[in-house]
Amino acid sequence: MDADLLIHSAAQLLTLAAHGHKPKRGAAMSDLGIVPDGAVAVRGGRIVRVGPTAELRASVRATREVDATGKVVMPGFVDPHTHLVWAGDRAHEFEQRVAGATYMEIMAAGGGIMSTVRATRAASLQDLVAQTRPRLDRMLAHGTTTAEAKTGYGLTLDDELKLLDAITLLAEDHPLELVPTFMGAHAIPEEYGGRPGAYVDLIVEEMLPTIAHLNYRVAITSDEDDADYDYADYRPAARFCDVFCEEGAFSVEQSRRILTAAKKLGLGLKIHADEFAPLGGTQLAVALRATSADHLVCTPPDQLQALARSKTIGVALPGTPFGLGQKEYTPAREFIAAGGALALATDLNPGTSWCESMPFIVALACRAMRLTPAEAIVAATLNAAHAVGLGHKAGSLERNKEADILILDLPDYRHLAYQFGGNPVQAVFKRGELVAGKV
Ligand code: NIG
Ligand code: FE
Repeated sequence: MDADLLIHSAAQLLTLAAHGHKPKRGAAMSDLGIVPDGAVAVRGGRIVRVGPTAELRASVRATREVDATGKVVMPGFVDPHTHLVWAGDRAHEFEQRVAGATYMEIMAAGGGIMSTVRATRAASLQDLVAQTRPRLDRMLAHGTTTAEAKTGYGLTLDDELKLLDAITLLAEDHPLELVPTFMGAHAIPEEYGGRPGAYVDLIVEEMLPTIAHLNYRVAITSDEDDADYDYADYRPAARFCDVFCEEGAFSVEQSRRILTAAKKLGLGLKIHADEFAPLGGTQLAVALRATSADHLVCTPPDQLQALARSKTIGVALPGTPFGLGQKEYTPAREFIAAGGALALATDLNPGTSWCESMPFIVALACRAMRLTPAEAIVAATLNAAHAVGLGHKAGSLERNKEADILILDLPDYRHLAYQFGGNPVQAVFKRGELVAGKV
């Protein structure tokens, strides 16, 4: 068999093979599908064979060979929850928080999300793209090959569209693949103070229909331009809609209205649930069959169990309590014990978690939530891919999946969690191309 690339002799090749494009749940999250002395062959950007080095070297002729002796080879990280497009920073708020102010107090006083909204509204599209690109470069260097990217620092129709345009422009010329999420329901903008219902009307009656129309136009223009158009290449303006269901943000009823409208327009659903107060967002996610429910720090046990039994992925964001200096984390052990499919993400944003590194999140998850290294890796790859609707093509090293592959300068996968604070990623391949690091 001919191939463009053969990576061979890995001390451990983590395939994360799962049968039938499903996330791994419960006890299955401990299974990394390790091939010792493993190899992977790539053709046309896709994986064509995975197995022991001896077998692949005997049967594959590759134009390029990479020797991974003594290294770990694994799928690229998928970061399924980020707010990566913003302008400005909130270093002064961080200092206030260290001195004792809480996140919710700062938000109630007009800081928090709204202060980033002011800076983001003032920035031009070019400015936003220029401020965001270095974040993508650093994420890629730390092994993230696919990331979800939310809007939510615009909060007017035009500013939210500017954020979606920034995501589209970045996605066009950066190797890191972006999955756009519309999050107009991130905060009630200050100009709607005391009239949250009017802002919800704006989201449901104007913002969502405009975005759905853009998605539709992307679909038909792609079709006309290219007779061989593959639906898998469809790049909508927004694939998901997310809501911050929280005290001081959107109530369960408002969240239900927004998410129900989004679902009717063909968007997948996500929700920020139970980050600070247990409002009932997790129950809502299960009822609406959301793709993911995220945060889950103070979710009541019965709702956590119901989530674990549902198809909705639970996304833990340990960078957020860490970034806020809080003690409570997502009860991940209980969720996994109940058979849930857990994913991990950075929540990259300027307020609560300026973290661009999935290796750090893996290390933190093992300490703060007592995940095993294997569970944390499954949560940061395969299950994370399912949390952004890309489980069919990303998150594992299996035949026909896209060749998003990392070589780690580590002798054993457990070192990914054991060591922390540095960057263990030596080389990053996106669809079979070397896009960061060196071999
Ligand atoms: O996930 N909770 C809402 N959104 C972010 C924080 C955004 C911000 O503070 O700018 C989060 O924690
Ligand atoms: Fe978030």
